[in-house]
Amino acid sequence: MTSLQACVVHGAGDLRIEDRAPAAPGPGEVAIAVAYGGICGSDLHYYHRGAVGDFTVREPMVLGHEVVGRVAELGPGTPGPAVGDAVAVHPATPCGECRECREDHRNVCSRSRYLGSAAHSPHVQGGFTRRLVVPADQVRALPAGLDLSRAVLAEPLSVALHAVRQAGDVRGKRVLVTGAGPIGCLVVAVLRHAGAAEVVVSDLLAQPLATASAVGATATVPAGRPEDPAWPDDVDVAIEASGAPAGLAACVRRIRRGGTVVLLGLLPTGETGFLGNVVVTREITLRGAFRFDHEFAEALELLAGDLPVDPVVTHTFPVTDVIAAFDLAGDRSVASKVLIDFTVEEGSRR
Ligand SMILES: NC(=O)c1ccc[n+]([C@@H]2O[C@H](COP(=O)([O-])OP(=O)(O)OC[C@H]3O[C@@H](n4cnc5c(N)ncnc54)[C@H](O)[C@@H]3O)[C@@H](O)[C@H]2O)c1
Ligand SMILES: [Zn+2]
Ligand SMILES: [Zn+2]
Repeated sequence: MTSLQACVVHGAGDLRIEDRAPAAPGPGEVAIAVAYGGICGSDLHYYHRGAVGDFTVREPMVLGHEVVGRVAELGPGTPGPAVGDAVAVHPATPCGECRECREDHRNVCSRSRYLGSAAHSPHVQGGFTRRLVVPADQVRALPAGLDLSRAVLAEPLSVALHAVRQAGDVRGKRVLVTGAGPIGCLVVAVLRHAGAAEVVVSDLLAQPLATASAVGATATVPAGRPEDPAWPDDVDVAIEASGAPAGLAACVRRIRRGGTVVLLGLLPTGETGFLGNVVVTREITLRGAFRFDHEFAEALELLAGDLPVDPVVTHTFPVTDVIAAFDLAGDRSVASKVLIDFTVEEGSRR
């Protein structure tokens, strides 16, 4: 193999497939032959706007932080996993030294490096490449019986697991989830698995709501119709997974006294208004949920079981069609999670 295709963003609207020289794994590192990558909202933002929030692409950056594949080569002194083993990549490298890291709150480490992120300079190159070199401690062997094409959901499922953990014990509870994109739908599956009795899901679009039903929502409601009788009142828990201020407003409006609202969706930068007095008079708990840490292992175990999340993956494109993959992935009226298949031969087309 002389060169390797990688999906590189150069700025807003400028995504290219480029050949990159294959890097050799250094001491303690693993080279992975990437099999699948999942396109995430942040990848789409880097592609469309050249930025995620305030993090702007200032140099060419390989996208992607949801990646799985097989071990291709071990660096000097790297004990394992064995060449050929199927693995998933934990995308975060926390600093290990700050207060948050020392207190086992590593998902909020401000110095954490995340695959395919422009938060730091130089940027952290991502995993949408045929061959990815990472430190061995980011690599997790897949549990027996778990296919690579399902394991690629481990990263967003970890996000969902963390958000549900922030909600506390949901057994027997009534829950509202606002937003039925890939993240909201994975939250639904986790809520049902964790024993939530009712999970009502809102979205503006029909397709995401259909996916939410397929993964376990007990009812769905159109977000644009506040008078719809399907809206629940007095839910025990609400998880905001739309990133829209209107989604947060619905969560705060529908929560019972003493209930918990988890903010998972990334709201527009700047201030967001909502009914703050309801938080006071109903003694609502507001909790944030950012990324994940130990949940990654749990996500792989759940995927090896029968968690019904397959409907979340709606399309798979060969890496040679990556622009088409990104364009479709941004259209929630048809697509939920879109995968890139890196196992196709170079030069081949669909
Ligand atoms: N906190 C974290 O660690 C973390 C991690 C990953 C993603 N996110 C965020 O979570 C959110 C969901 O991620 P995703 O990939 O599923 O995004 P997405 O954009 O694919 O899905 C959002 C869904 O919300 C729907 N929506 C828009 N306005 C709505 C409203 N007012 N009420 C209900 N639904 C509405 C959209 O139609 C869409 O289906 C995004 O904001 C994303 O940035 C946060
Ligand atoms: Zn992601
Ligand atoms: Zn740290």
